[in-house]
Amino acid sequence: MTAALHLDSLSVVYDDFHALKDVSVSVERGESFGLVGESGSGKSTLLRAVAGLAPISGGTIRIDGEELKGSKRSKVFYRRVQMVFQDPYGSLHPRQTIDRLLLEPLAIHAVTDSDKRIARALDEVGLGNGFRFRYPHQLSGGQRQRVAIARALIVQPSILLLDEPTSALDASVQAEVLNLLEQIRRDRKLTFVMVSHDLGVITHMCERLAVMRNGAVVERLSSQQLVKGAVQEDYTKNLMIASKGFVKG
Ligand SMILES: Nc1ncnc2c1ncn2[C@@H]1O[C@H](COP(=O)(O)OP(=O)(O)OP(=O)(O)O)[C@@H](O)[C@H]1O
Ligand SMILES: [Mg+2]
Repeated sequence: MTAALHLDSLSVVYDDFHALKDVSVSVERGESFGLVGESGSGKSTLLRAVAGLAPISGGTIRIDGEELKGSKRSKVFYRRVQMVFQDPYGSLHPRQTIDRLLLEPLAIHAVTDSDKRIARALDEVGLGNGFRFRYPHQLSGGQRQRVAIARALIVQPSILLLDEPTSALDASVQAEVLNLLEQIRRDRKLTFVMVSHDLGVITHMCERLAVMRNGAVVERLSSQQLVKGAVQEDYTKNLMIASKGFVKG
């Protein structure tokens, strides 16, 4: 079967700093794949590279078997991959209504039927039409993150890149948003790549994961292996200890 997302020896260099070194990762269609690793290990860089937001200096990215690079990375390609960031304050323009924020990606991708789509997108993330003409500051953190998810989904991507999507939220709201994401993944048969510092979140949401350090993948595991502590690398063991409540003492 062709992988939904296949990275082969992907490298990203900023000036002369190697933020991603020869990273190879394959994510199956409909799978939820986790990325963990200490701060600065390159998790966001990997997602940003896939989303076309980081300078790729080597290797390839394939989506559904199709390689697109350089100027050939078309709008169609980007429509298939959407990203949700950690901080919905930063990713939603404060002076735009929710309606405008949801209209923008539709306009970029020349999607018609915007009225219906906006209503449907808000409904899908559990926000009614009443939210449509509010501004981001008039929403709670959890509601804002629901808007960010709606904004990513509205162009009907096949892959969602989630960079710490719930770490700015408190525990109960975090659980609600994670459940919403899981339900959307099942309903839409989406593929997820998810970054989190919280190994509990990763093992709850993902089937498999990669452990990153200094821009490279040091270990690949199933969530089951991680839960059982069946890990090879000391680095991974230390991440488990550092992730609050993950190792039961
Ligand atoms: N635009 C940039 N210019 C230069 N260096 C960058 C840039 N973006 C990231 N880096 C560097 O690349 C490395 C990896 O950063 P990245 O954001 O991918 O880490 P991360 O694993 O997501 O960390 P965190 O868990 O803190 O979010 C870091 O050393 C960072 O300083
Ligand atoms: Mg990051």
